[in-house]
Amino acid sequence: MANTFLLFTYLIFIAFSAISATAGNALSTLDHDNAIPSGSNFTFVCDRSRYTSLGLNMSNFAFCDSSLSYDVRAKDLVNHMTLHEKVKQLGDNAYGVPRLGLPKYEWWSEALHGVSDIGPGTFFDDLVPAATSFPTVILTTASFNESLWRNIGQVVSTEARAMYNLGRAGLTYWSPTINVVRDPRWGRTTETPGEDPFIVGTYAANYVRGLQDIEGTENYEDLNSRPLKVSSCCKHFTAYDVDDWKGVERYTFDARVTEQDMIETFLLPFEMCVKEGDASCVMCSYNRVNGIPTCADPKLLNQTIRGDWNLHGYIVSDCDSIEVMVDDQEFLSDTNEDAVAQTLKAGLDLDCGIYYTNFTQNSVRQGKAREEYIDRSLTYLYVVLMRVGFFDGSNKFESLGKDDVCNKEHIELAAQAAREGIVLLKNDNETLPLSSDKIKKLAVVGPHANATEAMIGNYAGVPCRFISPIDGFSRYANVDYKIGCDVACKNESLIFPAMKAAKSADATIIVAGIDLSIEAESLDREDLLLPGYQTQFINQVASISKGPVILVIMSAGGVDISFAKSNISNIKAILWAGYPGEEGGLAIADVVFGKYNPGGRLPVTWYEAEYVDQLPMTSMQLRPDDRLGYPGRTYKFFNGSTVYPFGYGLSYTKFKYSLTSSFPSVHFKLNRFQHCYQLRYETDAFRPPCPAVLTDHLPCDDHHFNFEVEVKNVGSRDGNEVVIVYSKPPEGIVGAYIKQVIGFKRVFVLAGSSVKFKFRLNLCKSLHLIDYNAYSVLPSGGHTIVVGDDIASFPLQISFSSVEGYY
Ligand SMILES: *[C@@H]1O[C@H](CO)[C@@H](O)[C@H](O)[C@H]1NC(C)=O
Ligand SMILES: *[C@@H]1O[C@H](CO)[C@@H](O)[C@H](O)[C@H]1NC(C)=O
Ligand SMILES: *[C@@H]1O[C@H](CO)[C@@H](O)[C@H](O)[C@H]1NC(C)=O
Ligand SMILES: *[C@@H]1O[C@H](CO)[C@@H](O)[C@H](O)[C@H]1NC(C)=O
Ligand SMILES: *[C@@H]1O[C@H](CO)[C@@H](O)[C@H](O)[C@H]1NC(C)=O
Ligand SMILES: *[C@@H]1O[C@H](CO)[C@@H](O)[C@H](O)[C@H]1NC(C)=O
Ligand SMILES: *[C@@H]1O[C@H](CO)[C@@H](O)[C@H](O)[C@H]1NC(C)=O
Ligand SMILES: *[C@@H]1O[C@H](CO)[C@@H](O)[C@H](O)[C@H]1NC(C)=O
Ligand SMILES: *[C@@H]1O[C@H](CO)[C@@H](O)[C@H](O)[C@H]1NC(C)=O
Ligand SMILES: *[C@@H]1O[C@H](CO)[C@@H](O)[C@H](O)[C@H]1NC(C)=O
Repeated sequence: MANTFLLFTYLIFIAFSAISATAGNALSTLDHDNAIPSGSNFTFVCDRSRYTSLGLNMSNFAFCDSSLSYDVRAKDLVNHMTLHEKVKQLGDNAYGVPRLGLPKYEWWSEALHGVSDIGPGTFFDDLVPAATSFPTVILTTASFNESLWRNIGQVVSTEARAMYNLGRAGLTYWSPTINVVRDPRWGRTTETPGEDPFIVGTYAANYVRGLQDIEGTENYEDLNSRPLKVSSCCKHFTAYDVDDWKGVERYTFDARVTEQDMIETFLLPFEMCVKEGDASCVMCSYNRVNGIPTCADPKLLNQTIRGDWNLHGYIVSDCDSIEVMVDDQEFLSDTNEDAVAQTLKAGLDLDCGIYYTNFTQNSVRQGKAREEYIDRSLTYLYVVLMRVGFFDGSNKFESLGKDDVCNKEHIELAAQAAREGIVLLKNDNETLPLSSDKIKKLAVVGPHANATEAMIGNYAGVPCRFISPIDGFSRYANVDYKIGCDVACKNESLIFPAMKAAKSADATIIVAGIDLSIEAESLDREDLLLPGYQTQFINQVASISKGPVILVIMSAGGVDISFAKSNISNIKAILWAGYPGEEGGLAIADVVFGKYNPGGRLPVTWYEAEYVDQLPMTSMQLRPDDRLGYPGRTYKFFNGSTVYPFGYGLSYTKFKYSLTSSFPSVHFKLNRFQHCYQLRYETDAFRPPCPAVLTDHLPCDDHHFNFEVEVKNVGSRDGNEVVIVYSKPPEGIVGAYIKQVIGFKRVFVLAGSSVKFKFRLNLCKSLHLIDYNAYSVLPSGGHTIVVGDDIASFPLQISFSSVEGYY
């Protein structure tokens, strides 16, 4: 019986390869009714006329009965399938089941900062040649503007939906990337929202909601049937941030992570993505965590994402993760069949790759994989496809078409995002903004002066257009462009013409920095300096320049530009522009000439160059290690000097803060089930009688503190201010963070006026810490709430008493 079946599939395979090899046209016609997307006239699965044209009667298939719940329909669909049919749906390229009228579906599309054609589910051609390409995520994050993050998600999903209608894109997007930038060398910093787990999680929740949410359905009772505009996916789960550093590759890297770091840093953004963003997908990563490949770890997938966080959606592997597990990691000496059994059991629903498709049937036959797990995974997958309207259509979006891609408003939002993100790092003597009345001739030099592709980074699509820096500046002055040096800057041959240009111009803009040849997926940095002769080039141009010199840095990670920062340098102003997207040059020029007053803040610490000599990239820990001489990582644990600290950023105006709080102390009376928890202190002098209580034991949901911030613009220009709120723990607790972000808000304030707004923050979330044993605890004693860089603060006292009396 089994042999006959095998022979049968084998014959089908032969027959199909023969067709594809000899009669390509025949195959594509044959494929056509069944292919999504590819420019067909596909509407949605449960379209009665489609069934009729396939010679099928839709009434025979309960999964097309829209009066039933998605869950019942998905199960019905799965129950119609043979094992062979089921396993063919478990790869990103799902084969479909012609006899059920189920078409093919390609799950893999990407939309990290605009619809991208990286995944095979999406492509550009004459019908849709391009989509809006926003700044890369690290720059958009620097805006610290939650509504911008959401807004970009909304525009991207509108373009995605329009492209889907035209058969050019899928409905399931494997974006955003939300790994924390633990180390400044990480090559994928550009894709991520920076080094702070709370900000990363907040970005994730907003971007996911922007992509997924349909107005009015944000708070559905049954989240498993909540309609989605498109499906979004948070990746790469987890502790993934070594790409290729000195030969250590992500495929084989085993991240050794303490539970403390896991909960505090690596899991938090994903938890927020799932719980607050209600993401419908999580992607596991290539690496192992403490020996176990993430995609094969039931504790991480089934227990944490599915169980603890209650994911409404599916879990997908990174592309070829299972193959990596077998071939590169040789995990448990698994055979292909062992590996797919392991990952299915762990809770991996969909394989980006061919392993599930090729090996699951045999794995079941060999008694390894359980068919029940396959059914469960397929059900999750089809529920998501139902939620995005693949089965029943989606009235709301059917009218979207060509005019909804790369339109004026979308392009303007890309420019706006870049303006909001750009960070002013230095502005001696108020050199900026330049005045177009005074500056007639502008030298624009440097490797990125005519940047185009470099501005859109990776995971991009084809942009609507590019506005390079020279294009942008040409709108304000006569531009004399000389490249001076390319990014690698291996020799000095082109420097002289750039110096000549600087010598005769009213001002000089040097657009320098790095690009994907230095920091990228599969490419971590080894140092934090500008490549080759770039520093020398910048100094030479600056020293000879007639007018003021403005340095613009394009990069994702921090660059040690101490030489330009110091005030003995001729460089009067410095801007960081990330990778600013298709409109980047316009945004930079708008900022330099004061059409827009910058308000962005650095989402990562800019360490000094020596930092990377002090610790290997492969050490995962965030806290300093005195024994090994490792400094800490991120502003939360690194106390050394920096080129520019996390959260840094200037404005053309000045702001003053004042704070009103009415919450100086909170007291908890403990009952006999609430125990004091011991913490470790530097000395006993710091130790209060009741050091802490587990947050699980406290009525945390009921305790918030409120305060009001007034931001006054005391300068003469309208401006944008990012107010970042931190908490500092009581003194003396061993291993506590220095401070941590608990809230932020970007506000626009007219010159001479002020705005007031309230923060309402959860006490436990804001003041808790994860102790050495990975417990979440609320420490007693004097916490401090700090607004801005120590601009304003107030103390917040936490105390506990028992039924017997005060401690
Ligand atoms: C799609 O529909 C259009 C207009 O109804 C028709 O001209 C075209 O041939 C159809 N294309 C396919 C692939 O069926
Ligand atoms: C389709 O199936 C339904 C229910 O089985 C039946 O009532 C109907 O007559 C069928 N229609 C056609 C065209 O065969
Ligand atoms: C934040 O983003 C929104 C949406 O894009 C924008 O309208 C608003 O002006 C921005 N706020 C500030 C203060 O920049
Ligand atoms: C998955 O989690 C569920 C409940 O959270 C549990 O009942 C089940 O045993 C877990 N399965 C595996 C394979 O760990
Ligand atoms: C999976 O199966 C396809 C079709 O039989 C074959 O071309 C491919 O090489 C297989 N891949 C692996 C990794 O076994
Ligand atoms: C600012 O300008 C004053 C007066 O022109 C000059 O003395 C001073 O050195 C300048 N400072 C910087 C940091 O450029
Ligand atoms: C700027 O770059 C674009 C795209 O690479 C190129 O077409 C154009 O010629 C360049 N402009 C100058 C002035 O070199
Ligand atoms: C110097 O660099 C430029 C630009 O990269 C390159 O075209 C040229 O060949 C190099 N010259 C020498 C002598 O290496
Ligand atoms: C140069 O910078 C140092 C340190 O930031 C500062 O103390 C000094 O006043 C500055 N000098 C001038 C001329 O601005
Ligand atoms: C910074 O941390 C190191 C290592 O924990 C410690 O030895 C040092 O005293 C700290 N320095 C400051 C200024 O707090």
